[in-house]
Amino acid sequence: REKIILDVDPGHDDAVAMMMAGSHPSVELMAVTVVAGNQTLDKTVKNALNVASVLGLKDVPVAAGMSRPMVREQIIADDIHGVTGLDGPKFDEPTVQQDPRHGVDLIIETLMGSDGDITIVPTGPLTNVAMAIRKEPRIVEKIKRIVLMGGSYQLGNVTPSAEFNIYADPEAAHVVFSSGRPIVMMGLDLTRQVRCSSQVIERIGAIGNRVSKLFVELMEFFSKTQEEIFGWDAPPLHDPTTVAYVIDPSIFVTKPMRVDVELRGEHTYGRTCCDYFGVTKKEPNAQVAVTLDLDRFWDLLEACIRRYS
Ligand code: BDR
Ligand code: CA
Repeated sequence: REKIILDVDPGHDDAVAMMMAGSHPSVELMAVTVVAGNQTLDKTVKNALNVASVLGLKDVPVAAGMSRPMVREQIIADDIHGVTGLDGPKFDEPTVQQDPRHGVDLIIETLMGSDGDITIVPTGPLTNVAMAIRKEPRIVEKIKRIVLMGGSYQLGNVTPSAEFNIYADPEAAHVVFSSGRPIVMMGLDLTRQVRCSSQVIERIGAIGNRVSKLFVELMEFFSKTQEEIFGWDAPPLHDPTTVAYVIDPSIFVTKPMRVDVELRGEHTYGRTCCDYFGVTKKEPNAQVAVTLDLDRFWDLLEACIRRYS
């Protein structure tokens, strides 16, 4: 079993990442830490608790982390995820309670108490992970690896250059990418290949359990806003690719690259500058996902959602 800390900003696709992490037998979900990102922290925490309650994650601590980025002013993605950050479904009162610890401390405690066998899986801005590294530098060698959704070696989605999770806190992303720990980057180049079509929504809906129902409600809203903003006929399902990679890396093809985060560019702030061709001769610091076997990805997602009775 792969032990993971899932660091999220739910977020429609974050919720799907939680669905996969919460049910697959080869994942041991140690903690869910929440960060501001798609919406403000109060909302992303509420959403995480709501989703955890539907999934029945009773024994997994869910803690609130950072409410603001490290340096830049805050941005949110309400255009994609709505005023709640998770528009679409209606939730009952959550049965999962918030853990009283700060998310950054929960990351530190969980890692310090480990044998160095925990993977961090961030699907939001990297503020919590970077703050944990700065607050307790000894965690760095305890991190097995970081499998994150963020960045792009081609085009961005909030600016022509930058992807949302990195742009929302580039300084934090810099701390993570320069940490020296193994990083797997699921960027937009990969996630734009993972398009949640109406056939996929129907297929998952046909499972007919409470989680598949939540998936359908989430994806119906997400499809609408993604089409309005980007013109996609089917939205890219970014965040679950991280958990899928942890479960079965053989679904993906990655390429080692040197990734540096642009912190000073006027038009390129928050860009992940990925040395695809190795022209700088700098030592690669990340495995960057390039392609995947889509059939196997959707099969895995379906299998995860079927596990909820
Ligand atoms: C990322 O930004 C968020 O809106 C999504 O949840 C995903 O993590 C995609 O750029
Ligand atoms: Ca996210």
